Amino acid sequence: MPTSMLTNRQHPNRVIAQALLLCLALALSLDSVISVQAQSNPLRQTDTPLNIAHRGASAYAPEHTAAAYRMAIEMGAPFIEPDLQMTRDGVLIALHDPTLERTTNVATLFPQRYRRVQRGAKAVRQWFAYDFSLAEIKQLDAGSWLSEAYAGERILTLDEVIALAQGKADIMPELKYPDRYLAQGLDMAQAFWHVLERHRLTRGEHGPQVVVQSFHFDTLVRLRQQFQSSLPQVFLVYGDSAAPWLSDEGLARVATIADALGPSKLLIEADPTLVSRSHQQGLAVIPYTFASPHRATDAALIREMQTALCLWQVDGLFTNNPDLFGQVGPCRDESNAPVATP
Ligand code: G3P
Ligand code: CA
Repeated sequence: MPTSMLTNRQHPNRVIAQALLLCLALALSLDSVISVQAQSNPLRQTDTPLNIAHRGASAYAPEHTAAAYRMAIEMGAPFIEPDLQMTRDGVLIALHDPTLERTTNVATLFPQRYRRVQRGAKAVRQWFAYDFSLAEIKQLDAGSWLSEAYAGERILTLDEVIALAQGKADIMPELKYPDRYLAQGLDMAQAFWHVLERHRLTRGEHGPQVVVQSFHFDTLVRLRQQFQSSLPQVFLVYGDSAAPWLSDEGLARVATIADALGPSKLLIEADPTLVSRSHQQGLAVIPYTFASPHRATDAALIREMQTALCLWQVDGLFTNNPDLFGQVGPCRDESNAPVATP
């Protein structure tokens, strides 16, 4: 018998009671859908949030060098984060900026190999990684700019980062500016995938687990569609350009291609509901960057991390100070109550 016929003959109170029961059942099933999503998303971390060493332990050692990555691993970071750029001969290297002059002695070793770039009213000299072969880049000192104690540190290839992490930590590489490299005839996504295939890391079979990040949505789409990647993905957003992605509709679109949203922490400060709204879409939330001594003392940074983990309830965070992450007390401890704003 059709349900509608049954309903029409029932007492109104019974109909109301049944409607309430139906609502309750729907709410419970929605809860279980969210909880199944949370369980099936490897980046949703309610119990052990992810301590991701941003550019290695970069508060203490020159970013992206072996010294910074090793220090992060010794500090207990389960993940190290290499940003990826490319050399002229198509090799992926761990480097944050697309240019070499901030963190190496390129201007001394190759004084003529710059491009003039207009920055507002000023023309500046910049040494782009894609203008140098790997052999040339390997001559650069990537440590002295921070401290003479690190003189001789080299820029690492992605292969070398994988070898360094092997058996000790997982990696969260970020594909930087894939569109700019494509314009130079360099296919970053393809090169990345080939490296992972060579190391048999595409299905997490061997070596470090890989979580991919990018600000470039289409590259994350491409990894899933063209390369059939099932690796966890983090879509990074910042500033005004984030706005279209932060509505419920935008987050639902992010969830079609990523397992986590990686917002600048300023975006959560501006709207802390971003975390629960992302969770509702099945996304983990991993903000960046929690760092001293640039912005905070150690104590202030620990409080800031505590607010992110306990009040905002993010699933992990990128930090230059992975040692301090471990000093955030348990969120359920009342003596450790989070502060309202970091
Ligand atoms: O990848 C997360 C965070 O590192 C993004 O900012 O500029 O430090 O790579 P950036
Ligand atoms: Ca990064």
